[in-house]
Amino acid sequence: MAPPTPPPPVPIAVIGGSGLYSLLDPEASRTQRIVTPFGADVDITIGAYAGTTVAFLPRHGAGHSVPPHRIPARAMLWALARLGVRVLVSTAAVGSLNEQLPVGTIALADQLVDRTRDREDTFFDGDTVRHLPFADPFAPALRALALGAAPELVDGATVLVIPGPRFSTRAESDMNRAAGVDLVNMTLYPEMALAAEIGIDAIALCVVTDVDSGSHAGEAVTAEAVFARLDEARPRLVSAIERIVAAVPADYAPRELIDRAAVDAVLRTETP
Ligand code: ADE
Repeated sequence: MAPPTPPPPVPIAVIGGSGLYSLLDPEASRTQRIVTPFGADVDITIGAYAGTTVAFLPRHGAGHSVPPHRIPARAMLWALARLGVRVLVSTAAVGSLNEQLPVGTIALADQLVDRTRDREDTFFDGDTVRHLPFADPFAPALRALALGAAPELVDGATVLVIPGPRFSTRAESDMNRAAGVDLVNMTLYPEMALAAEIGIDAIALCVVTDVDSGSHAGEAVTAEAVFARLDEARPRLVSAIERIVAAVPADYAPRELIDRAAVDAVLRTETP
């Protein structure tokens, strides 16, 4: 008997950040559990969306039960790559340090500063030494495509990723603003680096939900305020995602990999 035909690859994924826990029509999607060698299994919903097939997963779990420092980013990115994903549209709630990016703005970040601690941020931590070029942490060709499809997005912002789960102090906000940071978030690292390592072009739609730490005059940021602002922005966010996904051509080619053979070996790793 002929072996069963493997399912066709899923080209595009969306990772939903705080406030975006579902995207696909339940009637036209299924949820698949992917067993990974990275200490966590990952439930991914796969279905028809914007004229193609999309994999969706909520970064913090369906009920927002996973805090930023416990997100199984390696398992998530590995599972997506195993499905054949080559394009990732991530969403993220962010605080703003830049008056030009007020609450409600959706910015397409172009730079990232990592200040997280002790997160597993590479697939190459065994005998294979590989150094990822990461000067452009968000895939430039995919950013250009996204801006063409959703021109209302603000083009470019530097996002600082802090460890969380606490928010910044006012002094930290002052220092980060002085250093040139526009936006503050807790989750886009190591997600973006792992995507790049494993051959997935990724972008981040950053929804400004607060003025980081309230800065000086304002109320301190709270999780409740973040969720409320995200709820308000969700229709615009989903509309942008839909147009971006629809604009990705079937033959979209992600950035060159640092080492195809090494990445293939990572993807062949089976659960011990
Ligand atoms: N997510 C939303 N607002 C944030 C902030 N001010 N700092 C870090 N992460 C955030």
